[in-house]
Amino acid sequence: MLRQFSESGHDVTVVPTEAALRFVGAATWEALSGKPVSSSVFADVPSVQHVRLGQQADLVVVAPATANVMANAAHGLSDDLLTATLLTARCPVVFAPAMHTEMWEHPATRENVATLRARGAVVLEPASGRLTGADSGPGRLPEAAEIFAAAVEVLRRGAAAQHTDLAGRSVVVSAGGTREFLDPVRYLGNRSSGKQGYALARTAAARGADVTLVAANVTMPDPAGVKVVRVESTTELRDAVHAAARSADAVVMAAAPADFRPLSRSQYKIKKRTETQLTTVELTENPDILAELGSSSGTAGGSRRRVLVGFAAETGDDEATVLEHAREKLARKGCDLLVVNDVSGGAVFGADDNEAVILRRGGGEVRVDRSPKAALAHVVWDCVLQCWDAES
Ligand code: CTP
Repeated sequence: MLRQFSESGHDVTVVPTEAALRFVGAATWEALSGKPVSSSVFADVPSVQHVRLGQQADLVVVAPATANVMANAAHGLSDDLLTATLLTARCPVVFAPAMHTEMWEHPATRENVATLRARGAVVLEPASGRLTGADSGPGRLPEAAEIFAAAVEVLRRGAAAQHTDLAGRSVVVSAGGTREFLDPVRYLGNRSSGKQGYALARTAAARGADVTLVAANVTMPDPAGVKVVRVESTTELRDAVHAAARSADAVVMAAAPADFRPLSRSQYKIKKRTETQLTTVELTENPDILAELGSSSGTAGGSRRRVLVGFAAETGDDEATVLEHAREKLARKGCDLLVVNDVSGGAVFGADDNEAVILRRGGGEVRVDRSPKAALAHVVWDCVLQCWDAES
């Protein structure tokens, strides 16, 4: 992660704790960062490091953030250079927790995390999985790439990052492409990478929303700070989205669910010799999740209406333009917003950039020129916010 920051042009100072130096020595940190490293406020006293570091930083990332560091930070204790820096910092702070599940779930840690978040710090959700010992559960340090992405997102939004305009909102995002199994090893699938859905989940979490991400066959690591439900088929996706949508203020269907599935799924691997099964695959239609949600005019907790966002990849033809087809789809599926990709030039899969037109129910559109998927995601959330504001 240190390399990712310095290689992308950031000036990084490492502030280890005494405990951290037991794992990785100061010499390694100095070699990697190209700067002297100290854990004590008594090192380099004339430059008053513990004040200067915090004052000059644009971002402080605490990774791994132990239960102890977060407890100190929440209570303003400052007995080493890291905690002193946290007290003097006026920039955004990102904590990437790592500890045993019991410590993460302890009421003391829960309260400390709540205190830090209430003060504007970004405390990522730890990953779930194998911990230092034989145990496993939530408490694992999020993947370095995830911490880096979250930190860059906070930096990119600058002061706005502290302005968590989606706080108190619960949102559901679906991502990826479903698989419809013929037998235990074969499936019908599609090439959706899930990148746009993950960008939507990440940006919503960065803006303070409570995010559930329903991910269909996405190979990327779980975005930090997001509840992830992993599914394979359209039926599983549908169940997970409907369950999460009940208490949601917005549902964004960025996933590519298969419209059809094999009529039957063989319990055993289909053998070549059972020719009839291989030459003809009978299909049956899957439910249209977006249309179901659109027709059930949901109301989230309280009186706020649920905002529904669909995605559509369209081409123009002899009968209608891309946007005419898209307007018809928006109305047919009962969405509030439809994010339209023009794929007349051929669909692009797995790209990091996207360009789109966001159509609003009742007229109006927002054009987003080719830009990173995170940038499009922010515009989608801006439009969702406008829908909520129009309601109130
Ligand atoms: N979608 C869904 N359930 C499905 C299929 C699609 O919820 N079974 C959602 C996608 O997540 C996306 C939007 O519907 O938000 C995309 O619709 P699209 O596949 O373009 O719509 P179709 O109904 O297949 O339209 P077309 O007539 O163009 O095939």
